Amino acid sequence: MSQDNVLTEQLDYYRARALEYDKWWNREGRFDRGPDANTRWFAETSELERVLQRFDPRGDVLELACGTGLWTRHLIGYADTLTAVDAAPEVLAINRARVGDASVRYVEADLFHWPPDQRYDACVFAFWLSHVPHDRFAAFWEMVASALKPGGRVLFIDSARTENSTAADHVLPVDGGDDTMTRRLDDGREFQIVKRFYDPASLTRALGELGWSASVGATPEFFIYGTATR
Ligand SMILES: C[S@@+](CC[C@H](N)C(=O)[O-])C[C@H]1O[C@@H](n2cnc3c(N)ncnc32)[C@H](O)[C@@H]1O
Repeated sequence: MSQDNVLTEQLDYYRARALEYDKWWNREGRFDRGPDANTRWFAETSELERVLQRFDPRGDVLELACGTGLWTRHLIGYADTLTAVDAAPEVLAINRARVGDASVRYVEADLFHWPPDQRYDACVFAFWLSHVPHDRFAAFWEMVASALKPGGRVLFIDSARTENSTAADHVLPVDGGDDTMTRRLDDGREFQIVKRFYDPASLTRALGELGWSASVGATPEFFIYGTATR
C-alpha cells in the first residue's frame, strides 16, 4: 500500500474508532492487559500529567491531533487561549462534549497539509508523532516551527515500544521495518496505520539535526515525552 493510502487509512481508522478510542487510555476490553500491567499504566499516565504540569503551557496554546480530548481537558486549565486541531470530525465532536468550553477554537484539518494561521506560545501533541512517517518528519517539525512565536515551546508525549500498551490482538511493527501496523476495531475491521517508536537519545539527535533544542525522557515502560524549542 502506498504511504498516501496508509495515511488515508490511518485517518479512517481514527474516525471509525472515535467512540471506542478511550478504551485504550482506560485499559478496557482488548486493552486490559491484566491488573499488574494496568496498575503500572495508570501510574505512568499520572506521571505524564505531572510532565504537563511542569511544562505549564500558558499563553496561546496549540494542540495538534487533539483526539477525544484526553489532553485538551487538561490544557484548558493552563492556556489563555487554546486551539485544538484534528482531521476527524467524530473525535472533535467527542472532544467538544467532554471539554465543554466554548472558548476552545476547534479546527478540522489534515496536519500534513495545514498551514498554521497564527503563532503560539506553546504547541502540544500527544500520541501523534508516532503516526508521522519518517519522510514527513522534517516537514512536520517545520510546520510546528512556523506555528510558534519566538521562544515558543513544544511538548510531545508518545508511546514507547512495548507489547503491553496496544490491544492484545495487535502486533507491533517489526523493529527496523516499514513502520506500518495493522490495527483492529472491536468489530474486527482492520486498518493499516503508521506507528514509529522512538528512543529518547535518537529522537533528541534527530531533532537537533533539524535545529531544535530538545530534551526527551521516558517513563519506566509505556511512554516517552519531550520538550523542544527552535
Ligand atoms: C493516537 S490519536 C491521539 C489523540 C490525542 N492526542 C490523545 O492523546 O488521545 C491520533 C489522532 O490523530 C488524528 N489524525 C489522524 N490523522 C490525522 C491527520 N492527517 N491530520 C490531523 N489529525 C489526524 C486522529 O483523528 C486522532 O485523533
